[in-house]
Amino acid sequence: MKSKSLVSIDQCSKEDILRILENARKFEENPNRRILEGKVAATLFFEPSTRTRLSFETAINRLGGRVIGFQDASTTSSSKGETLKDTISMVSNYADLIIMRHYLEGAARYASELTNIPIINAGDGANQHPSQTLLDLYSIQQTQGTLTDLSITMVGDLKYGRTVHSLIAGMSHFNPTFHFVAPDELRMPDEYKNFCDKLGIKYYEHTDFTEEIINQSDILYMTRVQRERFTDLEEYERVKNVYILRSKMLESSKENLRILHPLPRVNEIAYDVDDSPKAYYIQQARNGLFAREAIICEVLGINHLI
Ligand code: CP
Repeated sequence: MKSKSLVSIDQCSKEDILRILENARKFEENPNRRILEGKVAATLFFEPSTRTRLSFETAINRLGGRVIGFQDASTTSSSKGETLKDTISMVSNYADLIIMRHYLEGAARYASELTNIPIINAGDGANQHPSQTLLDLYSIQQTQGTLTDLSITMVGDLKYGRTVHSLIAGMSHFNPTFHFVAPDELRMPDEYKNFCDKLGIKYYEHTDFTEEIINQSDILYMTRVQRERFTDLEEYERVKNVYILRSKMLESSKENLRILHPLPRVNEIAYDVDDSPKAYYIQQARNGLFAREAIICEVLGINHLI
């Protein structure tokens, strides 16, 4: 990687991605390797999280390191007015690595410019979620046997969903075809479509979520409508249940289709889908442990897994 922090998936070359995924595969074989002994990692979560925080903390524990941090910024001195700059400077005195989720876009990049220890972006506003992308890529590779020439359908909140923004960049090395399914209010922002145009990546936009689209997909990437990003809650109420995947919609889907979702889900995948062999979102979250172990090693410059 160009920098020892991971703030955006854009900084990872194709070779970086493939190396991290190969290390994730080794961690799946053996997640317990005491290569962080004596190291302290700080998890600073200014926004709620279940999977990202717990899988990073599990990764650090399984690698023999120790964790400090917070999951609720209201219990920290930021509630007294301490700036992010001062918080990062203080925590850098104590830890070897910072894993940070923040509601402001660009917060992780800003933090990385303030400190000499690596920052891992665990989500910054509606911008990026690079560790999620690496676990998504790992999940795609594990289920499809390849990352190349796949048809990826993204459904739901493509405006505010940071995971889809990062996934476009991550998949861009592998000749994908994208289908973007969203209501007009939540369409994929121009910035990401321009990125695809520049690289000659094919994409198609839809407002209807049809079986025809599902049937040509290798990956169906469902997303939650991000209530916390709306300034107008009436608008959220209008679009919150716009697409719901039900098991009967999968009847003619491809054998290799797998359904991913970064989770949490609200209503966008009906519970009857959970019994389908094509539902992969629980295993996807499990893969987060292996991918995050590999990411931690990458940013700390640990090249040889024991
Ligand atoms: N996928 C994801 O970021 O989940 P959490 O918000 O629970 O961390």
